[in-house]
Amino acid sequence: MTAAELFNLKGRVALVTGASSGLGVRFAEVLAREGAPVALVARRTDRLAAVKARIEHAGGRAIAIAADVLDRKAMTRAFDEAEKAFGSVTILVNNAGVAHSGRAVELSEAEWRRVVGTDLDAVFFWAQEAARRMLAAGKGGAIVNVASVLGFGVSKGTVAYAVAKAGVIQLTKALGLELAFKGVRVNAIAPGWIVTDLNRDYLTSEEGAAITREIPVGRFGEERDLDGALLLLASDAGRFITGATIVVDGGQMVALRG
Ligand SMILES: NC(=O)c1ccc[n+]([C@@H]2O[C@H](COP(=O)([O-])OP(=O)(O)OC[C@H]3O[C@@H](n4cnc5c(N)ncnc54)[C@H](OP(=O)(O)O)[C@@H]3O)[C@@H](O)[C@H]2O)c1
Repeated sequence: MTAAELFNLKGRVALVTGASSGLGVRFAEVLAREGAPVALVARRTDRLAAVKARIEHAGGRAIAIAADVLDRKAMTRAFDEAEKAFGSVTILVNNAGVAHSGRAVELSEAEWRRVVGTDLDAVFFWAQEAARRMLAAGKGGAIVNVASVLGFGVSKGTVAYAVAKAGVIQLTKALGLELAFKGVRVNAIAPGWIVTDLNRDYLTSEEGAAITREIPVGRFGEERDLDGALLLLASDAGRFITGATIVVDGGQMVALRG
């Protein structure tokens, strides 16, 4: 089998949450380019429409589905709409996420619940729904969760986010273990700093820009730096990989400070 065949996604159907900006847009475009029709899920419909148009212009297929990942009814509807358009979803990219700033002692209950609800609870419920449907369809599947290096280490002012992302790494292992024998693989990507709407203001500030000194490759990541990990985990190239989290961070996690 050639490398192109190994990573090809023809015959698969993808659903990407958080496909209206940043990494989710890139994930959707990459999956579509390799042959999978993609259901684009997020709240901002104008942005989803623009992503859909770009994918179609490039020769791919996509539908835009407005849904809040915190809304369980909208989740069911999103999978139903994706199935109606393209057939059973065989790839889920659980990417929607929010960040926060502020020290633990100042964090409000509402902010904790917003971040953990979006970055952990919703990741579980969307993976659970996808897995149930993949098992029922009997075609196998690949679930790719988006964690973070902050699921391993912590930095000040990230408590809810770091706790949620650590949870994503653990739920990836637990689901990977339970579903392995049934042909559904569950893995995660843990990006380091990738410049997107989530962090652009901070990373382009003087304080943020100084972080590049902690990244051995000497720069922040770009969205395309995640293409390889995504395609590995989503395609047959990763057929024996499950329960794993691939760190894509320019060496940041292995570098000692100082
Ligand atoms: N950028 C980085 O450096 C980095 C590093 C590690 C991990 N990550 C993770 O990568 C993922 C994508 O982040 P990003 O950098 O691409 O951020 P982004 O540009 O802010 O995009 C976040 C996406 O999540 C969607 N979203 C947020 N809350 C949602 C909700 N309740 N319902 C539906 N969609 C929702 C947003 O869509 P709408 O607002 O339109 O709903 C948007 O499409 C996140 O899980 C993030 O934690 C990012």
